[in-house]
Amino acid sequence: MPIRSILAGTGAYLPSRVVTNDELARTVDTSDAWIQERTGIRQRHFAAPHETAAFMGTEAARAALAAAGATAADVDGIILATSTPDQAFPATALRVQAALGVTRGFGFDLSAACAGFIYGLSVADNMIRAGGAKGVLVIGSEVYSRILNWEDRGTCVLFGDGAGAVFLRAGDGSGSDRGILSTHIHAQGTLGDILYVDGAVGQRDKPGVLVMNGREVFRHAVTRLAEAVEEALAANGLGHRDVDWLVPHQANRRIIDAMGRKLGLPPERVVVTVDRHANTSAASVPLALAEAIADGRIRPGSLVLLEALGGGLAWGSALVRL
Ligand code: UT7
Repeated sequence: MPIRSILAGTGAYLPSRVVTNDELARTVDTSDAWIQERTGIRQRHFAAPHETAAFMGTEAARAALAAAGATAADVDGIILATSTPDQAFPATALRVQAALGVTRGFGFDLSAACAGFIYGLSVADNMIRAGGAKGVLVIGSEVYSRILNWEDRGTCVLFGDGAGAVFLRAGDGSGSDRGILSTHIHAQGTLGDILYVDGAVGQRDKPGVLVMNGREVFRHAVTRLAEAVEEALAANGLGHRDVDWLVPHQANRRIIDAMGRKLGLPPERVVVTVDRHANTSAASVPLALAEAIADGRIRPGSLVLLEALGGGLAWGSALVRL
């Protein structure tokens, strides 16, 4: 019997504090008009001190387990994608494990910047299909507000905080085509200097802030994500018309629209949260997915294409039948 990873439940968490473009423009040399025109962002959520990656990841994971009708006892492993962990170690995933009351299995953090959730799905799916785990939480949780350079208006207006999670459950893949159909992940380390954080705990007294060459990242994002989408469809013998929903990484409305056009999807088939969440890095895809499932847009049976690209460069796609 072939095993499939079924997307059993999704969950989300956003800090209650909403910061509009106008509020940012009081302290940063920018404007609501510029931010909206260039990015589509209207507002973002910023975490309070207690809202760490572990705290928000736990809340999103709890919601995903509840949506799946699962409990802590069903969790064999936790993969948490983040660039903003609570501590160097233990892994933020293990802080989540403890908070959820999970007392067995494995957990680790995954560093692939904005592509982290897609990377996590890929690792979890391969483990499940190989029989190594039956229930895996994949979480993206980020507090980018703590690594932004407030002197750099080209980056500090682009990001927000939040967490999204999915619970994957091993299922029988012989009867239907429900579940993760494929994942593809890629990286090009030679492009590491166009989007990075210039420090970490491994560098004394240099926690680091985000640095980005936006134009270069934009150029690579459009090309690489278009390739990733075609790769996912070709691997499954599917065409553009088979895709019901695109759930893209939420970095810039212009990139999202370009991807929708490439797939020939009408705008109402593309899930957009960048206007309200800004770019939440590894949390952006699971947050968007959780929102569109919770409000009933994405229904059981829908074919959903997920894609993301970020620092590394790292990028990838996942094709999922709900
Ligand atoms: O999640 C990881 C993946 N990340 C991405 O995919 C991000 C990809 N890049 C982008 O989304 C866009 O490149 C940005 C939104 C970052 C920038 O948009 P852009 O259209 O590429 O603008 P730009 O960087 O070329 O800057 C255009 C102008 C510059 O002024 P000059 O040199 O033309 O006079 C900037 O100084 O806009 C200026 N500018 C701003 N003005 C007001 C840059 N940031 C701001 C700002 N407010 N916040």
